[in-house]
Amino acid sequence: MAKTYKGSLSLEWYNKQKSIMLNNSIGSTSDKDIPAPKINWVNKEDALFYEIVDSEGRGLEPFWVDRSDFRIKEARPLVLQGNYKAMSKDKPGTLPGTDEIFELIESSEDDTELTSFFVRGDNLLAINSLKKMLLNNPNFPKFRCAYFDVPYNTGQAFKHYDDSLEHSEWLTLMRDRIINIYDLIREDGCLIVQVDDIEHHYLKVMLDEIFGRNNFVNQICYERSGSAGIGQSGVFVNTAEYILIYSKNHESFDYNELKKYEALEYETMKRYNKVLQKEGDRELVEEFNSKSNNLPIKIYKHKDYEISSISLRDFENRKSEIYGEFVLKFNKIFRTTNPQAENEFQNDLISKMSGGLYSVEYTPSRGKYKDQLTTIYYNNNEIFAWLKDSAFIENKEIVKSNKMNTIWLHSEIPKADLANEGGVELKRSKKPEQLMKRIFDFATNEGDYILDIFSGSGTSLAVAHKMRRNWVGVEIGKHADTHILPRLKSVISGEDKSGITKSQKWQGGGSFKYYHLGPSIINQSTEGVGDFNWSLGKKFIEESLLLSYDYLLDTTINFQADLLFQSKESQPTIGVQKIGTKTRVAIISLNEPKGKLGIMPYEEIQTIYKTIKSKFAPEYINIFTNRGVEMAYDSKPDDLEVIKVPHAIFAELEK
Ligand SMILES: C[S@@+](CC[C@H](N)C(=O)[O-])C[C@H]1O[C@@H](n2cnc3c(N)ncnc32)[C@H](O)[C@@H]1O
Repeated sequence: MAKTYKGSLSLEWYNKQKSIMLNNSIGSTSDKDIPAPKINWVNKEDALFYEIVDSEGRGLEPFWVDRSDFRIKEARPLVLQGNYKAMSKDKPGTLPGTDEIFELIESSEDDTELTSFFVRGDNLLAINSLKKMLLNNPNFPKFRCAYFDVPYNTGQAFKHYDDSLEHSEWLTLMRDRIINIYDLIREDGCLIVQVDDIEHHYLKVMLDEIFGRNNFVNQICYERSGSAGIGQSGVFVNTAEYILIYSKNHESFDYNELKKYEALEYETMKRYNKVLQKEGDRELVEEFNSKSNNLPIKIYKHKDYEISSISLRDFENRKSEIYGEFVLKFNKIFRTTNPQAENEFQNDLISKMSGGLYSVEYTPSRGKYKDQLTTIYYNNNEIFAWLKDSAFIENKEIVKSNKMNTIWLHSEIPKADLANEGGVELKRSKKPEQLMKRIFDFATNEGDYILDIFSGSGTSLAVAHKMRRNWVGVEIGKHADTHILPRLKSVISGEDKSGITKSQKWQGGGSFKYYHLGPSIINQSTEGVGDFNWSLGKKFIEESLLLSYDYLLDTTINFQADLLFQSKESQPTIGVQKIGTKTRVAIISLNEPKGKLGIMPYEEIQTIYKTIKSKFAPEYINIFTNRGVEMAYDSKPDDLEVIKVPHAIFAELEK
């Protein structure tokens, strides 16, 4: 005779299993893994919960909660506010297809089509919901770039948001959000965070810990203003901001090299003043295989070659003549440099040469010419650098291109019209569209997805759209309604002529959706009694609960064939979680409290258990239910746990 099961119905057992799974997967360190220094702060073990007060349009004072607190893990509903599309039509009085204008169409339809969108709400909670929406969408390719212009913690209350968190609150806030978006970034993508010197160094150490030190790409020092800093206190006028770039995985990180272009100047000409007029005959002197890819390396010595110099002595008098000579011999101009002392490969090659012209044919195993048969030249033991590798000819002039450096000056990104960009004002926080463009030029390509969960006035989203990228934004403040929405509407309708509109040849087009973060899936009555928020519907609560505990939804199992589960109502929802080599599966089956909740019969538990076992062979199975459970103690398998919700959630919250 089956007895009602009275085993542990809490989440404690669940949390314990998870930590066992985690320990097993993280434990594999090699000799090379030198742990990064870690930063510590008050309440580092905890998390911060922000509730949003709609009337005020900002987050409440955040308060500390446990990191496994359901309120910061749950995936709330996203409530559609509007769907905005720009439809093109011919400009009146023009021939069809010659001149388009865009008409903005607004609807309240939430189709399943994946478009760009933004959410008003606290970004930690919004990310939980984004994960539910995006990670379960097969068309979502993940974010190529997450760009966060975070509150700098200046200790001030700006008109639109408070920027004065306690230091440990700020660090906790950033850590939790960055960890939460980590899974949403593509392997070849990156995270870019902008701060000033108040939290910069703490953030760097924290990001090293999350992304790994070897994924730190660079730090840009951005001159935010060229002004005299009137009204600034402090010893120096503070004009610097820092843009920290981390790749998700430095081995697959993919980016576009940014270049600065300038006319060929005397200083450059002075260095590139040699011309390889004639290579002459070459003779193989040495052949061996590369240590790195085992492909052949051939060293040739040249005879009867000819190298000349361009004389710049009376440069001022002969300027145009010399310049003409440069253009004419463009492909043959070079300079030579000494290889770096620590470059073993170069030094090895040079040790086999004895002065004069040599060429080496080989296939590099990394770098710009990876896997391509390449020839490099040496003259008198110095390696050639060709002018054509860093310059090109345009309109019969040589234009030199230099790799962009890590100092971005105000004069390069002027922002005289910043206040008017996008037609909205966000004093002392708004970034220039040109700055965003430079960042997205480097980190993304057309069609990629960009994430900004500190959207402010929506600069990054407007720029992403004009650059034909997809985007997802989050903003907690009222300015989501008053700034971002009108700004983006004017981008798609083509009315926004500011910022990068002209340089991008942007005329309008595309679409986006706007959501508000919805209510919690749990309700606590004034008497302290907790229950699910049934107005959200059984299916939503089931899915949200699984996602809150880091399961991905699985739709491959259909229990409907079994007599027990024939009604739609009785269909359980399934989630799968993989950590390292271990798998955990959860099944959640709720009864809406229309009348009595009823009992989950032994037979139902057995069927679920066996089906899941044979399909996934998981290490652990959790059944979440709000019904009574009918099961004998001795018949409960060790790897099965039944968790009574929402009681278990409230028990955890009350701890
Ligand atoms: C420095 S501003 C971003 C400015 C933006 N880059 C622009 O160009 O307009 C930071 C923004 O983060 C928002 N924010 C702060 N905490 C947030 C949270 N927990 N969730 C969502 N947004 C938040 C603030 O309201 C503010 O608008």
